[in-house]
Amino acid sequence: MALTVVSATANRHKLDEMRAVFGDAVELIARPTELAEVIEDADTFVGNARLKAQAVCAHTGQAALADDSGLEVDALDGDPGVQSAYYGGGDHNDAANRERLLSELRGVDGPQRTGRFRTVFVLAWPDGAEIVVQGTCEGRIGNKEIGSNGFGYDPLFHPDDGDGRSFGEMSSDEKNALSHRSQACVALLAAIASRS
Ligand code: IMP
Repeated sequence: MALTVVSATANRHKLDEMRAVFGDAVELIARPTELAEVIEDADTFVGNARLKAQAVCAHTGQAALADDSGLEVDALDGDPGVQSAYYGGGDHNDAANRERLLSELRGVDGPQRTGRFRTVFVLAWPDGAEIVVQGTCEGRIGNKEIGSNGFGYDPLFHPDDGDGRSFGEMSSDEKNALSHRSQACVALLAAIASRS
């Protein structure tokens, strides 16, 4: 029987991507519209995902699933990390975030431009039980933006398991086959299955 959980994200792209992997195993209910935005002030992906999952869980009395994601660049000691959405100033200003990343990496050669997208999921139940899983996608940061698909850092990120194109050049199906979020969804399904 499907596990029913309330999603802490209202992002349509993320919901579609998660539903595609979960299939019939997990029924994702949309985030209640009246629930205020949760302030994500933890300094780890797990901490921020937990804040969001627990807020939705407390509001609905149902199991809640939250994700937190970002880009970790090795030459920048893991930055932008949890600051990925705000890296260029402002809130989710993707163009400013990419511009700052390119500027911070000026002078860093191709082989050193390694990094990864990371997604952490926290699935929280009202009784305090939780599952924490993560997914990663290794890749390289390009010298310039290529492609206009996707969002965030996609035009700058070239996954190692791809064919050299950036995420920004891929269809959503192509990206989903490789993405950190899909890997995290697969890990979550395995964790749910081993729990029951
Ligand atoms: P969120 O926690 O999933 O909202 O991600 C925080 C930030 O990380 C986003 O605003 C993006 O800048 C970046 N990010 C996360 N996932 C992706 C992705 O799949 N592609 C590009 N950027 C991403």
